[in-house]
Amino acid sequence: MRFDVLTLFPRIFDGYLGESLLHKAIEAGLVQVHTHDIRDWSRDKHRKVDDRPFGGGPGMVLQVEPIVDCVEAVSRQAETAGRLVMLTPQGRRLTQSVVEELAEEPRLILLCGRYEGFDQRVIDLLQPDELSIGDYILNGGETAAMVMIDAVVRLIPGVLGDEQSSVDDSFSHGDRLLEFPHYTRPRVFRGLETPPVLLSGDHQAIARWRREQSYLRTEQRRADLLPDSTESATGTTSDPQTPTLSKDSRDEPRAD
Ligand code: ADE
Repeated sequence: MRFDVLTLFPRIFDGYLGESLLHKAIEAGLVQVHTHDIRDWSRDKHRKVDDRPFGGGPGMVLQVEPIVDCVEAVSRQAETAGRLVMLTPQGRRLTQSVVEELAEEPRLILLCGRYEGFDQRVIDLLQPDELSIGDYILNGGETAAMVMIDAVVRLIPGVLGDEQSSVDDSFSHGDRLLEFPHYTRPRVFRGLETPPVLLSGDHQAIARWRREQSYLRTEQRRADLLPDSTESATGTTSDPQTPTLSKDSRDEPRAD
């Protein structure tokens, strides 16, 4: 999968792209990330790409010409034109199901805003998919683009060691539950014990306990995620196969 990131600050991405899972995915040829400096498409001798808003008001607006030129030129750099995504607090919310939809694309072009945002004609002409990572205002779309890349790449087959682990952590399969608590060695720390059931070796009992804990947590913290029909934290209506919002539940902790 190929990402092209259009930004005024391409170096912001260097650290993130050079570390951990994403670095490995790039090394393995599963993911390509190309950053592009929007200023390279400026028509101004000072590489200016913003101007004051017509009608007055604070801040600066990203100009239509360099942005449209940049998107069109970058789009032509690969065979597939790619899906254009604009990171903006005005967009629809990025959820796990949107992430899943994006992960199906062969190429995403991510347009990162700064300042007061883009001239409206950028949106009218290019009709990007406008996406927001949450109801708060960031200094720019770059961190939102990183969040999006991060969430999308872990769904690309082969990026995670065990493909099952991105199935386990899904927010998007029917019932959505928060993850149950995890424990690992030592068994006791400052008097805080590991729940004995986890050391029992009884896999059915462990699965039951985890399911109950997931329901309890979801009920206490994020009742909005529970379907209306869910009656109690003990899972009277629960499906034993219900996936949780877990990051990774592959590894069984050892008792010792
Ligand atoms: N740019 C500024 N704030 C943002 C947000 N919440 N989501 C996506 N892009 C943004």
